[in-house]
Amino acid sequence: MRISLFLCLVLFVFSCSKTPKSSSIVKNEEKVKALISKMSLEEKLGQLNLRGTSSRVKGELPEELKQAVREGKIGAFLNVMNKDYVKELQRIATEESPNKIPLIFSRDVIHGFKTIFPIPIGLAASWDPETARQSARISAIESSSYGVRWTFAPMLDIARDSRWGRVAESPGEDPYLASELAKAYITGYQGDSLNNPTSIAACAKHFLAYGAAIGGRDYNTANMSESLLRNIYLPPFEAAINSGAQTVMTSFNEINGVPASGNKFILNTILRDELNFNGFVVSDWDSIKEMIFHGYAQDLKHAGELAINASLDMEMTSRSYELYLKDLIEEGRVSLDQINFLVSNILRVKYKLGLFDNPFVPENHDGNLYAKSHLEKAKNAAINSSVLLKNEKILPLNKSNTIAVIGPMSNQPHEQLGTWAFDGDKAHTVTPLKAFEDAGIKINFAKGLDYSRDKSSQGFYNAVKAANASDVVVLFAGEEAILSGEAHSRATINLPGAQEELIKILSETGKPIVLVIMAGRPITITNIIDEVDAVLMAWHPGTMGGPALHDMLFGDAEPGGRLPITWPKISGQLPLYYNHKTTGRPPSKEKYVQMDSIKIGAWQSSLGNQSHYLDVGYTPHFPFGYGLGYTTFEYSNLKISNTVLESNQLVKVSVDIENTGERKGKALVQLYIQDVVGSITRPVKELKAFKSLSLKKGETQNVSFEISTEDLKFVNNDMKSVIEPGEFNVFVGPNSAEGLETSFEYK
Ligand code: GLC
Repeated sequence: MRISLFLCLVLFVFSCSKTPKSSSIVKNEEKVKALISKMSLEEKLGQLNLRGTSSRVKGELPEELKQAVREGKIGAFLNVMNKDYVKELQRIATEESPNKIPLIFSRDVIHGFKTIFPIPIGLAASWDPETARQSARISAIESSSYGVRWTFAPMLDIARDSRWGRVAESPGEDPYLASELAKAYITGYQGDSLNNPTSIAACAKHFLAYGAAIGGRDYNTANMSESLLRNIYLPPFEAAINSGAQTVMTSFNEINGVPASGNKFILNTILRDELNFNGFVVSDWDSIKEMIFHGYAQDLKHAGELAINASLDMEMTSRSYELYLKDLIEEGRVSLDQINFLVSNILRVKYKLGLFDNPFVPENHDGNLYAKSHLEKAKNAAINSSVLLKNEKILPLNKSNTIAVIGPMSNQPHEQLGTWAFDGDKAHTVTPLKAFEDAGIKINFAKGLDYSRDKSSQGFYNAVKAANASDVVVLFAGEEAILSGEAHSRATINLPGAQEELIKILSETGKPIVLVIMAGRPITITNIIDEVDAVLMAWHPGTMGGPALHDMLFGDAEPGGRLPITWPKISGQLPLYYNHKTTGRPPSKEKYVQMDSIKIGAWQSSLGNQSHYLDVGYTPHFPFGYGLGYTTFEYSNLKISNTVLESNQLVKVSVDIENTGERKGKALVQLYIQDVVGSITRPVKELKAFKSLSLKKGETQNVSFEISTEDLKFVNNDMKSVIEPGEFNVFVGPNSAEGLETSFEYK
């Protein structure tokens, strides 16, 4: 059924297209069709097979693998990180297989390959698409020198619950920011032209709503209305596909009862028919087989049938396609047309990558690994990503100060790289301790704890001693890399081990304390924030985290990050996000009742009757978009061009920003709207634009934004994208909780 639609589409392109396709697209389609017509069924099924290998394969390439390639039974490999293996397998494929179809080699190159950038939640905190693009571009340049031409990135899962370990890889909680980053990642990975040897196919993952796993428990159930799916979880994928993403990966979770890898609605209706995606879809690791455990497939054969008929093109690691597709076709449960359609998608991407003409890594392409320019960009990315959460006039430090460098994350070259940094070599990591030493800072070093989960207080004595002998304590705390990422959800997201105790005992010395957190998620610090004078969130900052932290802490640079995800007071508040609904009983200061203030015998139906927690209230510790710098700003003179907006018109909003502090600084101006009344309830705020400004001391700048009717659209419960007449509030400020307000009416 799908192939007939596909052929009509191809015929349509040839016969009456008003917008003639570029010649290369037409040529590729002709090549794809011609090749399909020559391939045996076995070879077609081989293209659907992504074989995983351990990147730790040692010694000789297994003969079984070589023979399978020789017979055209494998179309792609994952994790072959030995250049000679890549070359030999590709040689066999392009010289000895039936139709000489090249292999495509893939890897998780998520935030760097050898030069490691901050983890993606950190890159999201930069609110800078150029920072994200650079991370992707350098990842592509370095990894393609190893034969990688396909990465499983960007991960575009909206995350609203920091208990989820994969918050570390996510673009945060907001669809607009995530969409802006998605475009930048695709451009970075895929470069100016896909057939450039340093371009690698991107993979928008995990399709779809993986971040909505209940309780933040990885792989768990995602249940939601279709309008929520379309308004919050789909936009970053749409942005990626509109930017030319060549592949998409299905997620492990079910969506409303149907696992993504067998979900015709998301893979056919949304991805293919609505978004016109013409690349290929790959399953996640064994996710086709896992439909058995989901209780959605009887057995592996049934799982394969469900996936192939949902147009999942390529199977990662599980082997239902390889083992059962031939039978399924013979039994009439899968059509040959469908097979041809899926194989065409894969061949199309291989042609676009130029693999048929240039299947091997060019001899002169060494990836420029750890180049000075790469390291410099990684350092700037760490500066742009770090979020200053508190600063009681202690930062920036004075370089003549004697610093007590303390904490389990102060000198951890592996942990600093964060999750999904397989190929980064920790020998190249510059830790904060090393960076301080290299800069000639006077240091007293005492780890205090050997690692973040260390519960022993044995090291406390030396830590206190170091503190007493110094002017300032800089405490590097947080989580090891393994405590976030896939399968690493935590129910309590505080500082693990005895870190809180260490902070409290150091605060008794009376020395000022700067807390630097390296972690893969927001960490609840309610218990200790009053014991420290400053808090800087560095996420896992990557290879150059140390020099970046040195420059920020001593004022050579200013932390540039703003929170891409809400920072809770305690885990019990989660999920917690800024673009929530008002509810019928929105919480308020006036009505909030603090638990300890409740009188004994209070009347049952009292206590504010609002949507709040008696113990912790209703606000986060730090809101989405929050982040301090080393100066202060004042917003004034908010103006709106017209208070009535009609279709296809624009509203212009402008505001003055003055640098009221003592030094140059960055202002990240954020614009939010609120659709006050809708045919379905609408979020209290939605980010629609942001701009980064640099202002000198005393300087005032006017910044303006244009709001178009496109910005007012949402998907209603009839799944129609609509703009509804009525009042819209507009907020312009430094984060989602502060700013100036105006409004307009859409007629
Ligand atoms: C993992 C992850 C996915 C990754 C894939 C290949 O299970 O879910 O993000 O790209 O396997 O390593």
